[in-house]
Amino acid sequence: MSDLETTARALVAEGKGILAADESEGTIKKRFDSIGVESTEENRRAYRDLLFTTEGVEEFISGVILFDETIRQSSADGTPFPQLLDSKGIIPGIKVDKGAKPLALAEGETITEGLDGLRARLEEYHGLGARFAKWRATYSISADTPSEYCVWTNANALARYAALCQEAGLVPIVEPEVLQDGTHTIEESSKATGRVLQAVYVELHDQRVDLRGTLLKPNMVVSGYDASDRASVDGVADATLECFYRHIPPAVPGIVFLSGGQSDEDATAHLNAMNKRGPHPWQLSFSYGRALQAPALKAWLGKPENVEAAQRAYYHRAKLNGAARTGMYAPEMEREAVPA
Ligand code: 13P
Repeated sequence: MSDLETTARALVAEGKGILAADESEGTIKKRFDSIGVESTEENRRAYRDLLFTTEGVEEFISGVILFDETIRQSSADGTPFPQLLDSKGIIPGIKVDKGAKPLALAEGETITEGLDGLRARLEEYHGLGARFAKWRATYSISADTPSEYCVWTNANALARYAALCQEAGLVPIVEPEVLQDGTHTIEESSKATGRVLQAVYVELHDQRVDLRGTLLKPNMVVSGYDASDRASVDGVADATLECFYRHIPPAVPGIVFLSGGQSDEDATAHLNAMNKRGPHPWQLSFSYGRALQAPALKAWLGKPENVEAAQRAYYHRAKLNGAARTGMYAPEMEREAVPA
C-alpha cells in the first residue's frame, strides 16, 4: 500500500472521522459574531487550542483540517498545533484553496481559486507537518444551475489540485459541495450531485490521480432547506447512497461528509442511517465543521472559565458521530449527561 493510501485509510479508521477547523478569517468571524466574541488572532488561537487539547477526543477524531494561520500557531504551552495533534495520533491537514469566486460570464456560479503557486505552498505545508489537504468547490441548484461550464471548470481545478497534492505527498480531500439552500426537491439534489461527481471522477482519472490515495468530501443528498416537503432521515440515506453507488468508484477508500448547514443532530442521524445500511464499498465518515463545533462554540462564549464545558460539549458531539460511523447512534444518546 502506498503512503498516501495508508494515510487516507487512517483518516477513515473505524469509529473515527475528521474535524474541519479550517474556517477562513471571514468564516470564523461569522461564527464568533454569533456568540459575541471579537475575532482577534489570539481569540482564534485560544478557541482552536480548546478544541485540539480536548482530552480523549482522539478516540473519535482521526484528523483535523487547519487554516493557514492555524497551522503556524501554537498551544498555550508553546507546542505548535501540528505537533500537538500528531502527539495525540491525530493527523494534521490543511485547507489550500483560496475560496470560491464568481465564475466569469456565469451569474450566480463560482469557481474556486488557488492553483497559482500551489506546488510551493504544498511543499511548505508538508514541511509544517500537514499530511492531507482540502479544496472546496461550490455549486448551486436552480432551474439552470449548476451549468455544464461550472461543473467542468471546477472538476478540472479539483483534479489539478489533487494531482499536485499527490506529487507533494499529501492526501487530497476532494470537496465538491452542491449547496442545499433553496426549495429544490431531493430528486433535484440527487441529479445535481450525481452530475457533479461524475465530472469530478472523469477529471481525476484523466489527470492521473490515484483514487486509492484520495478522500471525497461531498454533500448529502437532501431536500432544499426551504423545501415544503422535506425528506426523512431514511429518505436522505437512501437517496444519498443510490447517487453514490452510481457515481463514486469503489477505489475511493472513504467518503467524509461535510455538514453544510444541517443541524448537528441531523448530520449525525443521516450518517448513522447510511452506515446502518452497510457495509459499503467505501468507508462513510464525517469531516464536519459546524456540526462538530456548534455546541462547543455556544458553551465557550469566549470565556476561559467555560473552556472545560466547551471541551465536554465537543467530546460528546465527536463521540456521537463516532457511534454513527458504525450505525450505533441512537437519538436518546443526545440526552446522555455530558460527562464532567
Ligand atoms: P461544515 O460541516 O460546517 O459544512 O464545514 C465543513 C467544511 O469543511 C466545509 O468546507
